[in-house]
Amino acid sequence: MIKQIYFGLFDVLIKGKLNKKPNTSYLSDLVEFSKDNNLELYLITGLDSKISETIIEENQLLAYFKKENIIDVAEKYYDSLNEIDKELKLKAKEQNPNYSDEYYKVFYFNEIFKGKKEEVLFIGHDIWTDVYYLHKYSNINTVILKDTLSNNHAPNLIEIKDLNVVDSSFEEIKEYIVNPKEFKYSYLNSYAEKLLYKEIFGSSLFNSRLSIGKILDKSKNKEKWKCMNIKKIKAIKTIDSRGVPTIKTFVYTNNSVAFAMVPSGTSSGKREALELRDGGKAFGGKDVTKAINNINKKISKELSGEFVLDQNRIDKLMLELDGTENKSKLGANAILSVSLACARAASQELDISLYTYLSRLNNNSSLRMPTPLLNIINGGKHAGTDLAFQEFQIIPSEKTISKNIQVSCEIYQILKEIIKNKYGASATNVGFEGGFAPNIIDPRDAFDLLENAIKKSGYKVSIGIDAAASEFYEKGKYLVNNKKYSSLELSDYYLELLKEYNITSVEDPFSEDDKKPWVDFTKKLNRKIMVIGDDLLVTNPKIIKEGIKKKYCNSLLLKVNQIGTLTESLEAFNLAKKANWKVVVSHRSGETEDVFISDLAYGLGSDYVKFGAPSRSERTAKYNRLIEIEEGIF
Ligand code: PGA
Ligand code: ZN
Repeated sequence: MIKQIYFGLFDVLIKGKLNKKPNTSYLSDLVEFSKDNNLELYLITGLDSKISETIIEENQLLAYFKKENIIDVAEKYYDSLNEIDKELKLKAKEQNPNYSDEYYKVFYFNEIFKGKKEEVLFIGHDIWTDVYYLHKYSNINTVILKDTLSNNHAPNLIEIKDLNVVDSSFEEIKEYIVNPKEFKYSYLNSYAEKLLYKEIFGSSLFNSRLSIGKILDKSKNKEKWKCMNIKKIKAIKTIDSRGVPTIKTFVYTNNSVAFAMVPSGTSSGKREALELRDGGKAFGGKDVTKAINNINKKISKELSGEFVLDQNRIDKLMLELDGTENKSKLGANAILSVSLACARAASQELDISLYTYLSRLNNNSSLRMPTPLLNIINGGKHAGTDLAFQEFQIIPSEKTISKNIQVSCEIYQILKEIIKNKYGASATNVGFEGGFAPNIIDPRDAFDLLENAIKKSGYKVSIGIDAAASEFYEKGKYLVNNKKYSSLELSDYYLELLKEYNITSVEDPFSEDDKKPWVDFTKKLNRKIMVIGDDLLVTNPKIIKEGIKKKYCNSLLLKVNQIGTLTESLEAFNLAKKANWKVVVSHRSGETEDVFISDLAYGLGSDYVKFGAPSRSERTAKYNRLIEIEEGIF
C-alpha cells in the first residue's frame, strides 16, 4: 500500500521562472490529494540546483512548504549528484564499475527507499529522465502527469510509451494506491531487454545515445547478444497501391518479428537498381515470385545467424551474394525489403522507436520534423492526361506537421471545388499519388488552379513541381503543351514560370540524359530555389558524388528503392548533406502501407518529405506517422 508520495518539482519551478511566479497549482492539488488520502508528501524541488538561482520567487515557495509541512528531499538528492555523498557513489560503483549518473540516481533512490519501495509512489513532471529510469530499472512505483508532457525531455520519445501517465487531478493515482504492484516492470520481462540492461546500462546507452556502431563494438562475439541474431527471414507477395505485386518481408529474431514492404516507381530513372519482375503472364509480367524465392531460399540462408543490429554487414553480405552492379541477380526489391526489415527488427530489439534507431545508426543524426511537399495535381505518367509535368505540389510553411497537414487538406478541398466548378466533377478524379488529374495540358492552367486555391485558403504556401522531364524528352527535344522545346528554351520557360508563380522547388527539370542544362539552370538560380535530382541521381552514392562535383543540382530526392539498401541510402543522405544540399525523402507512385520512410525522414533529420497528396491511405499513412511522432507516440 502506498504511504508516501515523492513529487519532482523541477518543472514547476521552471514554469515559475517563466511566469515570474512559482506555479503552485499542481502543488496545492497535490497537497490536498495527499491529505485526503493520508499520504506523506515529499518533494524534490531542484531548489539547490543551479536553475533555482534564477528563480525569483523562491522564498515564496519555501514559505509555502513550511506552512503545509512539506518535506523537501532535494538537498540530499542533488548533493549526491554533485558527488558530495561520495560514500554512496563508491558503493554504487562497486556494484557496477560502469555506472552512469542515471544508474547512480536509481541506486540512490533504491538506497533511500530500501525496505519501503512498495510504499512509495514517485510522481514526475514531463519526461524527467529520473522518473523514466526509476520506472524502468528500480521497483519504485512511478507515474507522470499527463498535462506536463512535452517532448523537451524526451528526444527519443520511448519514455512516453513506457510510463504510466495520469491526469494531474490525481484521481487516477488512486488506482495505483489501491494496487501498486500491477503496473510494475512489465518491461524487464523481455530477455533481450534484461541483457541489454545488464550489458550496457551503466555506460548509459539511453542517456549518452550511443551510436549503433558503439553498441556493435560492445557486443562483439558475446554469447549473450545472440538472442538478437536473425533466426529466419520470410517473404510473401502482397500488392501495391496500383494493384501491382510487391514484396513484404518478415525478419525473425528470438524476441520479435519485423516487416518491411517495397514501393515501386512508374516514371523510374534508368540507372535505378533493378526491380526484379518475372515477365510472363501472371500480373502482366510484373509478378515478383523470383525475387521472393531469392529471399526465402538464398538471402535467408545467407543472413541467418547474423547480428540484426549489424546493418552494414547485412547489406554488404547481400551485395556480395548478388554480385552485380545494379542488384539484378537477387533484385533490388528483394534486397531492400530485407534491409529495411532488419533495421525495424533491430529497433524492436533495442526497444527504441524506428526513427531513434535510424538516427543512431547514422551516428546520431539530429531528429527533425520535415516540411512536406504535397503533390495535389497529378500529370505525366501518373495521370491519364497530356499534362507534361508530373507533379504540382504545395509547400506549406507552418511550424508543426499537424498544422502543415491541416493547411494542405484545406487547400486540397478548396482546389477540388475550384476544379469541379471549372472542369466538371469528373476532373476531380485522382492520379497515382492522390492529386487531382483534370484534363488540362498547359502547365500554367495547373499553376493558376493551385494559386487560386492557395489564395482562397489564406495561408502562406509556395509551389513546387516535379517535371519528371525524362518522360517528355525525345530526340533532344522536350514536348510540353504541344510545343517542342530545346533544353535552353525549356530552361527559359522555367525561368518565366518562376517569375509568374511562387515556385520554390523544381525537381527533374531536364532529362537524366541531358546533363548540361542542369548545370546552367542550377547556377542561374543560385540556390534561391531547390533544384532536385531524382531520376538524375537515383539515390546512388556514386552518381550523387558526380552530381555534387559537377554541380548538376542543389538537392537530393531520396528514394530507398532506387538504390536498394538502407546502408547506401544513408550514404546518399550523408553525401548530400555534406555538400550542403537539401534532402527530400520520397515515396514512389506505387506505394504500400509501410511507413518506414516517415521514421527515416525524421530520424535522419531530412529537410523535406514528398509523400503525395493528403488523400489515399498509402500516402496519408506516412503523413499520419509524422503526426504520431510529433504527438510523442512511440
Ligand atoms: P515515381 O514518381 O515513383 O513514379 O518514379 C515519383 C517521382 O518521380 O518523384
Ligand atoms: Zn521525381
